[in-house]
Amino acid sequence: MSKIQIKKAVFPVAGLGTRFLPATKANPKEMLPVVDKPLIQYAAEEAIAAGVDELIFVTSSSKRAIEDHFDKNFEMETELERKGKKELLELVRNVVPKGVSCVYVRQPEALGLGHAVLCAKPVVGNEPFAVILADDLIDGFDQPCMKQMAEAFEYNRCSVLGVEQVPREYTEKYGIVSSDPITERLHRISSIVEKPKPDDAPTTLAVVGRYILTPRIFELLELTPRGAGGEIQLTDGIAALLKEEQVLAYQFKGKRYDCGSKLGYLKASIDFALKHEELAEDFVSYLRKRFGEDGGKIEKMPKRA
Ligand code: G1P
Repeated sequence: MSKIQIKKAVFPVAGLGTRFLPATKANPKEMLPVVDKPLIQYAAEEAIAAGVDELIFVTSSSKRAIEDHFDKNFEMETELERKGKKELLELVRNVVPKGVSCVYVRQPEALGLGHAVLCAKPVVGNEPFAVILADDLIDGFDQPCMKQMAEAFEYNRCSVLGVEQVPREYTEKYGIVSSDPITERLHRISSIVEKPKPDDAPTTLAVVGRYILTPRIFELLELTPRGAGGEIQLTDGIAALLKEEQVLAYQFKGKRYDCGSKLGYLKASIDFALKHEELAEDFVSYLRKRFGEDGGKIEKMPKRA
């Protein structure tokens, strides 16, 4: 059998980001930096590491900064070149590596994640694709999360959702799956429900912002009525997909930061600073001074790929 690779990734970035106001009044939440890179760039890099070469952003009117970020900045490049700042020049040029292209699709109304994904249908066409929600930042340590999932997809050739266990009091924030284990990390999903109350949640296995979906999802999303919160939910589309195709849940290796919340965002900022090549040492000494030598286990974290 020939290999099917995931070549396209969809980034729904049309949300308002109200949890970070006023920072997100004029700036998209996906452009918030963790240390020195915006969240959306971490997401794009994760997709590219999984073999994706077409990045599809589903945007709205206030998201111009995302397009600018992934566009060429001719003035800046010329200036950096003139000053001989080669490293910075490379950094700026590599925001979109050679061979990777970006496409922008507008989501005209905020009708939910399912609707956002559906907006990408004309660009994705009839092939399996990835969906990454940039505010779920995942440090996959040795292997980026989407790469792990792409391997599971290539082997099983069906939709794969990234999942992790969450405390029961948080089930209301996630799509929750019921499943039967196949291997330690891979489960066959039997049902999925969007944001159940802790008392009603069938399990505590939550979908995080990583999906590999077969194109059948588009037709099903077209038929999906508005669900939780009056929105067209991706979860409801997946529930319909489950009736026709196998859908797997994959418990990824790595650590997820909920950068849609301030606390998660702070945790990510600290951990990523502790492994940042230029910053880690100074940051560790600052924290030691600030919290005392025996103030805890503040250590430079090993840099992993
Ligand atoms: C969305 C999905 C939900 C998923 C979550 C992951 O919710 O609707 O199923 O578990 O992302 O972050 P949102 O965070 O947009 O409310």
